[in-house]
Formats: sequence, C-alpha cells, structure tokens
Amino acid sequence: MNKNSPIGIFDSGVGGLTVVKEILQELPHESLIYLGDTARVPYGTRGKEVITKFALEMANYLLKHNVKILVVACNTISATCLNEIQTLSSVPVLGVIDSAVDEALKATKIKHIGVIGTRATISSGVYEDKIKKIDSQIKVSSASCPLLVPLVEEGFTSCLATKLIVQDYLNKLPLKDIDPDSIGIDTLILGCTHYPLLQDIIQDVAGQKITLIDSAKPLAKNLRKILEEKNLLRENKKPNYEFYITDAPERAKEIAENFFGKKLPGEFKKIDLEC
Ligand code: DGL
Repeated sequence: MNKNSPIGIFDSGVGGLTVVKEILQELPHESLIYLGDTARVPYGTRGKEVITKFALEMANYLLKHNVKILVVACNTISATCLNEIQTLSSVPVLGVIDSAVDEALKATKIKHIGVIGTRATISSGVYEDKIKKIDSQIKVSSASCPLLVPLVEEGFTSCLATKLIVQDYLNKLPLKDIDPDSIGIDTLILGCTHYPLLQDIIQDVAGQKITLIDSAKPLAKNLRKILEEKNLLRENKKPNYEFYITDAPERAKEIAENFFGKKLPGEFKKIDLEC
C-alpha cells in the first residue's frame, strides 16, 4: 500500500458515480479506479449469497490493481456483506451507511427519519438498527423502491414515468405533504447511491420541506479523514482516473457525463469479472 496508489470505488452499476463526484471535489489530487458491474445490476433484488459473491469479485479486482483503500459506493453491498469485504481486504474498507446515518441524525428536528433503498437494503434493517443504536427515540419509516435502480441504469432520470413510480413508492411513507394529518418524516435518507440521480424528482414528490440525505458528501469527508489519519494522502502529482464497467461502457459514460454535466477525465473500459 502506497500513498500514491489509487482509491478503489465500486458499485453494482453507475450509481457509485454519485460518490465519485463528491470524492473528486473533496480530494482532487487523488487517483481513482471506479468499477461498476453493469452486466449484473441490479443487486438489490438478489439474495445475500449472490450479492456477496459478486461484491467479493469486484473487491478482488480492485485489490489486484493495488488500491490503497476500498470505497463500497453501494448501500446494498454495504448492508449485505461489508464484513466479508473487510475480512478479505488487505486495505481499509469504507461503506456508505454510517455517513448517511450521521448526517440524518444531524438533520432531523422531529426525530422521524425516512429511508428509501433497494429491497436488500431495506429488508436488512441496517439503517433502522444503526439509527436506533445511536438514539432509540428516533422513529424510522422505510420503503423499498426496487424499480428505481433499473430506471437510472436506463437513463430515465427525468421522465414522467419515473415521477409516477417515485410517487407510488413515497406514498408508502408518512409524508406530511401527502397526508397532512400525519406527523410525518422531516428527513429522507437516499439509501441507494443511484437515487441522487433522481434527486430533483424525489424532492419534488416528497415536498420541499423534507431534507434529503445523500451519503456521498459526508462519505467523501470521512474518506479524507481516514487517508489523513493513515498518512495516505497522495503527494501532489497529476491524478489518474480509470473507469471499468462490465457491460455497455458507452452507455455508462453517457449517463455519467449527463450527471457530471461535463466530459469525464479517463476512459470507460469494459472488463469481465468472471474470467
Ligand atoms: N447503488 C446501489 C445501492 O446503493 C444499487 C443496488 C442495486 O444494484 O440494486 O444500493
């Protein structure tokens, strides 16, 4: 492990790029390797065994590229098998969930937090457990939204069909704007790294009074802290960016560039994790 080695970041698809965006802001001198398993996305509808197998394959791939730290930019993987990745890894591993929990606890004024995520993340109960461990008085209302990841992967980030589906899912949560008699949540965790790509639609449907929590910003700050503590901040050299995708790299690049609003530095290359 060397301070000039890259940071490895991985997700089941393009969602982890929302985390890359914040890391590029927070740590502009760092080199990054991104891996998105677009051939096998979504993970969130699968069982623990399969998610763990896929996640360990990705972690191994990045470790072979000599990364100095692994960022699991996926709630589903973080909720399902962070321990298994930590056991396998020779370098520190950072998941997304703790950063989102800390941020939500700071944001809620009425102690009622909503969480949306994939089926695997919501059924793991990880958000509720972590929140209640810190403050047992906080109420947590959750809803799984399994169609949102495929919509984002298809680039359906601003269309009417997506808005209607978001409406359907958020109707399962006690939102004040939808049910004026309910006490309602005041804070909503986007418990999937794909969801910031739908942030405008989600905010519109949830109502402007709800604070949306995206783990990417606090995660990037935590990442800086860990690199500083471990004396692993890169020395000031020109950074290098690599993006590996297991299927249709051109489409991933297009979605990424729409999201970033500019051309991304570095190539998107297709790789095969199974060989
Ligand atoms: N970005 C992943 C997450 O944060 C999506 C998981 C999936 O592939 O379903 O959960």
